[in-house]
Amino acid sequence: MRALTVIPLQEGSLAVCDVPDPQPGDGELLVDGLAVGVCGTDKEIAAGEYGWAPPGRDRLVIGHESLGRVRTAPAGSGFTAGDLVVGVVRRPDPVPCGACAHAQFDMCRNGRYTERGIKELDGYASQSWTVQAGYAVKLDPRLADVGMLLEPTSVVAKAWDEVDKVGARAWYEPRTALVTGAGPIGLLAALLGARRGLDVHVLDRVTDGLKPRLVRDLGATYHSGSAGDVAAKLRPDVVIEATGAGPVIFAAMANTAPYGIVCLTGVSSAGHTLSVDAGRLNRDIVLENDVVIGSVNANLTHYAAAADALAEADTGWLERLITRRVPLEQFADAFTARDDDVKVVITLGGGAA
Ligand code: BGC
Repeated sequence: MRALTVIPLQEGSLAVCDVPDPQPGDGELLVDGLAVGVCGTDKEIAAGEYGWAPPGRDRLVIGHESLGRVRTAPAGSGFTAGDLVVGVVRRPDPVPCGACAHAQFDMCRNGRYTERGIKELDGYASQSWTVQAGYAVKLDPRLADVGMLLEPTSVVAKAWDEVDKVGARAWYEPRTALVTGAGPIGLLAALLGARRGLDVHVLDRVTDGLKPRLVRDLGATYHSGSAGDVAAKLRPDVVIEATGAGPVIFAAMANTAPYGIVCLTGVSSAGHTLSVDAGRLNRDIVLENDVVIGSVNANLTHYAAAADALAEADTGWLERLITRRVPLEQFADAFTARDDDVKVVITLGGGAA
């Protein structure tokens, strides 16, 4: 079968190759691949900046925003042929650390976790794949065209869960949320924020086009001004940061409401310095009981929450998030950014997506 593979840390090595058909082991589903989403992490891997091949191999099958249809499932697994499924990205470390031992592999402490399509385990960008039933998530059949949005939605479901947990340390009734960045993560964070009944604001650089329309169609407010000005005016109770851009991050941190919570989800590259009034920032954070948290990945509870949220969302809105569908053999197009791209997906030929 055909699969999209890369030699990690080698720029220009992304290629569609023939790889052996997967054979399901005990307790595993065999799945026809429908599509994978492409995200910033995939682009970093393709650029030779991130990623790990499986031990003893040169090439890694990439793809972690999966969507497939079950071909075969073991009896008693809870899955049957034809089910729409997504594979979970991360697996616990082998030690395991305390967090992984408690099914909180998204919070792994020793860094020895593995990730499908990213770190030491083949991903889902292949015409078929296998997955242990316990790491597969069944989707509402209505999500057949958009289910590859589950993984990024799980990432923002975790971010909101972190915000709730931090907020719960004292009386907490957040009203205003600012989401910085209107890429897929920002837009999905806005979707979940609006679902919570918050007054959601989204900030991005673009001034018109699809992103502002998608934000308005959630009942949220779109901004394209400077992050400092927008945040100073709003004084948000919660910020979900999805740009990874230093000036935006520090503008958000400096302008929350008292007891403000800033959740950072954007992974930035090192080497960008900026000058910050550290005393002022520290003073604000201390005197307001503010919190800044980082959040990565998602565990099974977040996937379940994300699956519920997508099942209840307007599928038309979710479909508009997917701005291009590129066949597997033309993968290079999917890795070349275009204006007004939101989410680009690669179709795998295993079905109708
Ligand atoms: C994925 C996460 C993963 C992270 C770091 C992100 O793109 O969505 O599941 O943990 O990259 O590898």
